[in-house]
Amino acid sequence: MRKKIVAGNWKMNLTKNEGLLLVEGVLNGVGDTDTKVILGVPFPFISDAVSGVDGSAISVAAQNCHQEEKGAFTGEVSVEMLKSFGAEYCIVGHSERRQYFGETDELINQKIQRLLASGIIPIYCCGESLEERESERHFKVMEEQIQSALQGFQKDELKKIVIAYEPVWAIGTGVTATPEQAQEMHKFIREKLAQVLVDEAEEVSILYGGSVKPNNAKELFSQKDIDGGLIGGASLSAPDFLEIIHSF
Ligand code: PGA
Repeated sequence: MRKKIVAGNWKMNLTKNEGLLLVEGVLNGVGDTDTKVILGVPFPFISDAVSGVDGSAISVAAQNCHQEEKGAFTGEVSVEMLKSFGAEYCIVGHSERRQYFGETDELINQKIQRLLASGIIPIYCCGESLEERESERHFKVMEEQIQSALQGFQKDELKKIVIAYEPVWAIGTGVTATPEQAQEMHKFIREKLAQVLVDEAEEVSILYGGSVKPNNAKELFSQKDIDGGLIGGASLSAPDFLEIIHSF
């Protein structure tokens, strides 16, 4: 059985007190669940978020990392730093990083290598733009993103990566992919993974992201190949995030 995961992505939101309240709200309301809950927080929150969830099954994720081990990269944060502060996961390749910071599949591949070498689980984001979907190139684009970002990994490494399919046109727009559209792409991604992993592709958690809200999570999560969600806007409200977690 593959893991069901609901991961929040706070992006660049919240001040210290707001963040602490949110961690507390999630912790107090999560209860007994077999869904893996992850909080994807900005760098300055990692330490407090890790202390805040201590003793619970909730994990903390960073939203980015640098691909080099260490050195003269002013303003950057290394994977070893993340690890030493207790982050267990790291989001990589988010479409906002691709769009605003020019991240390429090649760079993302390097970041994933660095994360796996340090034992941090990458949450690899991929997804097509509106223009790519409208011109019916979405499967081709996804195939390229999966193949180039995930190339060169051994089976046992590849198996550890969490995939988040996030169609760019659905992120922060309020337009969600229909459960059928999402399922179709998740199945396609799993088939691509199976070219390397064979049967073990069934063990990889593939999350859907893009305007997941309490009112659509249940239907999305009931699809065969959707193993959870990467939640942006709705993860900033403890009640909404909790409702999403509990919609499995
Ligand atoms: P959204 O963001 O839920 O606000 O659409 C999802 C994401 O960017 O991870």
